Amino acid sequence: MPIPDEKVEEVRAAADIVDVAGDYVQLKRSGSRFMGLCPFHNEDTPSFSVDPEKNLYYCFGCQNGGDVFKFVQEIEGVGFLEGVRVLAERYNIPLPEEEVDQEAANERESILHALRFAARFFYHQLTQTDRGRPALDYLRDRGYTPSTIKQFGLGYAPDEWDALLTAAEDQQLDPETLEKAGLVVERNDGSGYYDRYRGRIIFPIFSHIGKVLAFAGRILDPDDDRDQPKYINSPETKVYHKKEVLYGLNHAKRAIRQTDEVMLVEGYTDVISLSQAGVENVVASSGTALTEGQVQTLHRYAKRVLLLYDADEAGSRATMRGMDRVLEQGMGAYAVELPEGNDPDEYVQENGGDAFNEYVEEHRQDLPSFAYQRARRQGELKTPEDRVEVQRDIIESVAHIPDPNLRREYVTRTSEVVNVPDADLFRMLEEERERLEQQARRRQKREAKRQERQSQEEQAPHPSPAPAEASASDGGANRPQPPPPDTSEAPPQQQSSEPARPLPEERVLLRLMLEQGRRMVEHVLGHMALDEFTEGPPRELVQALVEMYQNNNVRPQSFLDGAHGDRLQQLAASVMVEEHEASENWAEREDIPVPKLNDRPYAAAESAMKLLKLDRVEDAIAEVRDRIYEASQNEKEETVQRLQQKMMSLQELRKHVQRGDFLED
Ligand code: UTP
Ligand code: MN
Repeated sequence: MPIPDEKVEEVRAAADIVDVAGDYVQLKRSGSRFMGLCPFHNEDTPSFSVDPEKNLYYCFGCQNGGDVFKFVQEIEGVGFLEGVRVLAERYNIPLPEEEVDQEAANERESILHALRFAARFFYHQLTQTDRGRPALDYLRDRGYTPSTIKQFGLGYAPDEWDALLTAAEDQQLDPETLEKAGLVVERNDGSGYYDRYRGRIIFPIFSHIGKVLAFAGRILDPDDDRDQPKYINSPETKVYHKKEVLYGLNHAKRAIRQTDEVMLVEGYTDVISLSQAGVENVVASSGTALTEGQVQTLHRYAKRVLLLYDADEAGSRATMRGMDRVLEQGMGAYAVELPEGNDPDEYVQENGGDAFNEYVEEHRQDLPSFAYQRARRQGELKTPEDRVEVQRDIIESVAHIPDPNLRREYVTRTSEVVNVPDADLFRMLEEERERLEQQARRRQKREAKRQERQSQEEQAPHPSPAPAEASASDGGANRPQPPPPDTSEAPPQQQSSEPARPLPEERVLLRLMLEQGRRMVEHVLGHMALDEFTEGPPRELVQALVEMYQNNNVRPQSFLDGAHGDRLQQLAASVMVEEHEASENWAEREDIPVPKLNDRPYAAAESAMKLLKLDRVEDAIAEVRDRIYEASQNEKEETVQRLQQKMMSLQELRKHVQRGDFLED
């Protein structure tokens, strides 16, 4: 929605550029102007100047300059309207858009107000009261200076049920608002509220422009109270969206912009200790896996993300996932592993900021190198199969990189790391890209189907129109009818509204059975389940063969006669006229030898069965992967875990298929 010009001018008049720029730059008066170190490029002597009278800024070093809006746009990486909005909010100038839903705006405002109040309350408890004393001592023991405590607004929540509630009441803050802010919890019996944070050190979580959005509370001594979680965190609220917020960003953004690089750590204390030691381009993702939204936010400030997670298995898995996410958003991703058992907080407290920076410089690893070393450590490089799998995993990550030139560089790099000719890896990349595209198509279809279902539900209170009618009316009357729409949870099999087309290896199997007759039918159906064949005519044809086999009367000719209907006649004819070489195109896919169909039909069948099974497993894996992604975006942890179990067993299954275990019995 546009913002009227007068409003823009009102904001411009209210926004003092010295004040705004002063948040990011230390400014010193020099005559009628102010000077400081430019936030837009790296420099040792100040060439960034601000002219309060003209309300302008200009850097003599990098020539970046403009009015206060331009400054906000540049420093926040936002567009003009958003820049105006940021400033309007800062100077409490209501904009029309907010007036549209005044109630929501008021609610948001009162929640933010309660959060601000709470932050002040906790800070006061920590720094000014006797009951905060043990917490203050604890923080000092950990090496935090008063100025760090102030900068990060650390606090203490007294060990009482209503310390905050009572203090808030005194200020005419109602408990309902505190509840909406996540600060208090309603009692089970509905008789009132109690403080969420009790006897904990408080870490306020700020928005990137420094508004208090939420809190994390750390127990003073985790060993003391083992039933209690070490940290408790604010729930999602109207103002706090975990998936978008990064802890420490408000302090870190200037340093991030200067170095073009952001370090991502796990814990609040890591951020604080590093910052105190002068390593300021650091944020944490507050105990959740890095989300797409967070990466997009970081992209506004930085080109590269360095992930510094724990060196244990969980940490390195999170690093891999995080790197994937960073790479697919078009940023550079590097992993840094600290010495065993050290987190960034401990490391920097022991060795200091310079040593930390040096360590990071020396130990940053790109994805191929990190993934390969991780695999080696886990003994995943011992067999040829394992090695190929690791190579494929790396290439799969590379395939997600949007820039083709960068993909090329990464393939070359992978080739160095894993010591495989890059031509082979480029081929793998092609396959992975193909798979990604298929996956995207599937996702689109699912989405379309979901929308279709939704609009049907909205349109028709009575049963939805039969799908057959719909397809007949678009001229598809003599085409095979689609299967009825499936409303249960999507099975791994493809479910499209078009008649399913058999896969190439499936066509080979059909053809071999039709050509070779009874013994081949027995061979193939001894190893394949009916539902591994594509739904529709292919599966119907197999079903018919099964019945013939059971009646001891396998007559392939009957399909060509039309005894089983038009559709199966067409299908039988089409697979049987196929060029023999047509099967060769799969040879490249899975390193499965393709014996000449006529020379060695049984070996050919085995190869085709293996491919068909692999295709099914791959489909299922892709589907589960999509769903894990969706579930993790929605923070459905339980679903994610259940799906991950499923993923593991599918991957197991894939290994078995690849080894040809299914042929053994
Ligand atoms: P850590 O256990 O590593 O804590 O959890 P920490 O930040 O290093 O804290 P100190 O140094 O022991 O005081 C890392 C992060 O995981 C989240 C928090 O965001 C924490 O900073 N976490 C951890 C929780 O949300 N809840 C917990 O119970 C534990
Ligand atoms: Mn720690």
